Formats: sequence, structure tokens, C-alpha cells
Amino acid sequence: MEQALLADVIAPRFSDVLVARDVLARHLPPTPMWSYPALDAELGATVHIKHENVQPVGAFKVRGGLALLAGLSPDQRARGLVTYSTGNHAQSIAYACAAFDATCTVVMPSAVSAEKVRAVRALGGEVVPHGPDMAAAQRHAEQLAGRTGGLLVSPGDTPALIAGVGTAYLELFEARPDLDALLVPVGSGTGAAAAVLVAAELAPRCQVIAVQSQAAPAAHDSWRLGSCVERSNRTAAEGLATGRGFALPQQIMRSGLADFLLVSDAQIAQAQRLLATHAHTLAESAGAAGLAAVLARPDRFAGQRLAVVCTGGNASAAEIAALGSTAEGDWGGNVGDGRAASSGAGAREHDSDLDHVRGGEGIRAARGR
Ligand SMILES: Cc1ncc(COP(=O)(O)O)c(C=O)c1O
Repeated sequence: MEQALLADVIAPRFSDVLVARDVLARHLPPTPMWSYPALDAELGATVHIKHENVQPVGAFKVRGGLALLAGLSPDQRARGLVTYSTGNHAQSIAYACAAFDATCTVVMPSAVSAEKVRAVRALGGEVVPHGPDMAAAQRHAEQLAGRTGGLLVSPGDTPALIAGVGTAYLELFEARPDLDALLVPVGSGTGAAAAVLVAAELAPRCQVIAVQSQAAPAAHDSWRLGSCVERSNRTAAEGLATGRGFALPQQIMRSGLADFLLVSDAQIAQAQRLLATHAHTLAESAGAAGLAAVLARPDRFAGQRLAVVCTGGNASAAEIAALGSTAEGDWGGNVGDGRAASSGAGAREHDSDLDHVRGGEGIRAARGR
């Protein structure tokens, strides 16, 4: 259904991102980007962390929500918004609706963290828990919007969301136009699509690299295959937990993404711990996926100037508790051990990436939790 609707959707352009920046300037300050000598030493690369975890809802998505609401007519806002989400898109829309005096209803898969449900409700959003996954939540949201006349917002195929999150990449590339590569965690792909749009104008020699969990590879496989596909979704990283490709971000990613890497949930957990110990940063799983790709492929990124977007900091209580664990293969603060473990896993994953291109079944590799 969304594929059909997309015929009416106009892909955002760089100029839309510039307009979004003017809008957002009234609502959000720019986020910081720091590098950490201890982290650089561990990774053997210069790594700039773009801190979207410090946004008022704890994730980059808020930029998209505000840009969307700012562009709606009073009539559209009065209808109220209906959307579906595993958490941060929901908080973004709820935050923006509160700022623009609109109502919102968010259908969330029943298993999402209690913290995220609580946060959406605290922002004034109505949460409807429904179904085991995003596909079920989407169907329910479509029915709700049909019944109530609310404006249905796709978390992926909505141009204003991409233009809004693109403002993070304006900040990033204006500060560091000289990067070798930028690593962006992907669920639906709005962030990576926006990064592609902005990099093309401000940093054309920087490779934009998308990263997804191998336990939910729908966006990765859609990009490699050149058309949107559905895949099983078994990742613990809520922000990356989508079961299908989204046409609009895929279209933009195809125009300029340099590569799309998969990481395991265990590698994401390692990266979360590394951010905590070496960058005093609390990242949720999805927010650590970009760094996980660097950890998993030390040879590929050695000596490079990198930026990694810490897309979100909304770690659940269970994720925070797991930061203290040092199970085998986890980041133990020991360079040698950590490198050896991640290097081996990286090599295995590279082969798995190729399996996907060949239409392989999907990765059955270990999941962290
Ligand atoms: C923290 C975090 N990182 C990354 C993503 C993926 O973003 P996108 O859906 O734009 O690919 C999300 C999505 O909700 C998220 O919440």
C-alpha cells in the first residue's frame, strides 16, 4: 500500500534540509560532536561521535518530527496524527505534536520497552500497544487512521522526516567536511538517506556507510537487491527493528550510499559498553550500531577519519544492566582481546553480507540477547 502511495511522494532535496534547519533553529540547539583520545587509541582511527543521544527525546528522530509538524496546515494538525513505531519515532512525533498543539496516537508493538511507552505517554501521545512486530502495528495504525480520519504518518516514507533529520548531517559535515567515512545506523533508513543527500553537497568524498543488525536485515537486503523486501526481525535493537525496506529512503540510499554493513547484536552490545567506558556516553543499542561496525572491521577503518552517529540514548533498564556484564566476546577494555574477537566476527559477517546479495536465506549468527 505504501508503495502505491509513494507515487505521490516527492523525494526531499538538499534545499528542503536547509529549510528544515531554519525551522528547527526555533526548537533545538545543534548537538555536539566530540572525539575521545582513549576511544581513538582503542580503535586505531579518529572517531568523531555525533551526539544525537542528547536531544530532548534522546534521539535524532525529533528533528524529523518537528520538521513534519511545522510543514502541516492547521487543518492537517487538527485531524491529529496516527503513526507506528518501536519507540523513538513515537517520541519524536509526540514531542512535535505537543509543540504544535496537535494530538497523536502511536501504535507500538506490544514488546517495546516500558521506558519508551512511558516516555511517549509523558509527552502527551496516546499509545496503543498492538501485535508482535512493526508489520502488525502498521496494519493497526492504518485501520485506526481510516476510522478516525487521523493523518497517517509512515516512519520511513515521509519526505519531511528525512529533510528534518538531514539537519544533523548539515551540522556534522559543516564541522568536518574532511571525513573519510560516516557510519549511520539504519532501521527504515531516513537517517542514512538524509546523510546521503547532505554528503553529496557538502562532503562528496566522504563515504556514507549504513549499518543494520544482521538479526533484522530488511533495509540492508533491500539496498543490495535493489528492491524492497521483507525479512525476519529478531534484533534486540529496537531502533533497527524493521521487517521491511521503505521505498523512499531506499531510493535515496541507492543514489549515494557507499556501502551497507551488518553487525551482530553482540557487537552492538560491545560498542555500547565501549561508548560507556571510553566516551562517557549512554547509548541505546541502535545508537551504538555505527561504532559496532568500526569495531567489527578494524582493518577496513584503521587510520581513517570517521564520524559515527550516536543516534539515540534511550537504553532500557535491561540494556543499562547489561553494560556491566563481561561475558565472553564482550568489550572488556582490553585492546588485544576486543580486537581479536571483533575481527573474527567481522570476517564472518563479510561472508554473510555476500550471502544476502546472492539471495541467501539470511544470517543465523549469534544474537546477543
Ligand atoms: C536510536 C535509533 N537509531 C537509529 C534508528 C534508525 O533510523 P531510521 O529508521 O531513520 O533508519 C532509529 C529508528 O527509530 C533509532 O531510534
